[in-house]
Amino acid sequence: KELTANIQNPVLLDLGCGTGEHLNELYKNGFTCTGIDNSKHMLTHAKLRFPNAANYILSDITNFDFFEDFDIAISLFGSFDYMIDDEDVDSVLWNTWRALKNDGFGLFEIWNAIPVREIKEKPLTTVSTVKYKNLIIERQRGFTLLPDNNKTIAEVDYIYTISDGTSIQHLKDKHIMRAFFKEEIEDFLHKNGFRIVTIYANSKKEPFVKTSNKLLIHFEKE
Ligand SMILES: C[S@@+](CC[C@H](N)C(=O)[O-])C[C@H]1O[C@@H](n2cnc3c(N)ncnc32)[C@H](O)[C@@H]1O
Repeated sequence: KELTANIQNPVLLDLGCGTGEHLNELYKNGFTCTGIDNSKHMLTHAKLRFPNAANYILSDITNFDFFEDFDIAISLFGSFDYMIDDEDVDSVLWNTWRALKNDGFGLFEIWNAIPVREIKEKPLTTVSTVKYKNLIIERQRGFTLLPDNNKTIAEVDYIYTISDGTSIQHLKDKHIMRAFFKEEIEDFLHKNGFRIVTIYANSKKEPFVKTSNKLLIHFEKE
């Protein structure tokens, strides 16, 4: 919101929008929003929860086509980290370049490769506990670095423990995700016509340091 303070009625594109949580906040703050996700299931929930927040598009973010329509493109909470192959990273960034107006900019959250390579194997730890109706849902997350000489790829494991007071259910979920070195993502951005404005560690605008978990990259067209 702060970054678009000088734009009247900013037009925003969210890549990998999931269930539309961010889109709804932005919509409430005056943004005109479009969200793209390749999961029908996620978009069904987004449309049910926030029907007016955005124009929702079922598509892969490696394969969408807009031209100079948007002031800002965002990709938050790990959506970009599903881009495993270099070709996919290039496609997302090139599609984004085409979609942005000439003075438009991007804000992408990307997993930092340095801590992933240092830690290598992170055991499951609780990352959130939420109450929903009569249920308590605990989410645990851990990861294992996979062998790859060129890229930083990890298997990310989730276990959800759902308790209703009398019984407990465990659900497992596994994701293959990629983390990036700052220089690596800088090269991809540059190759696709962007330059980095600032890199933060998080949305509190804390400065990025090499051990930060995330790179929150503000970039613009060169
Ligand atoms: C962890 S969720 C984050 C959702 C949302 N950005 C947020 O901040 O709440 C990751 C999302 O990326 C989507 N996604 C992963 N790979 C994708 C792809 N190739 N094309 C479009 N969406 C993708 C998933 O379906 C999922 O909804």
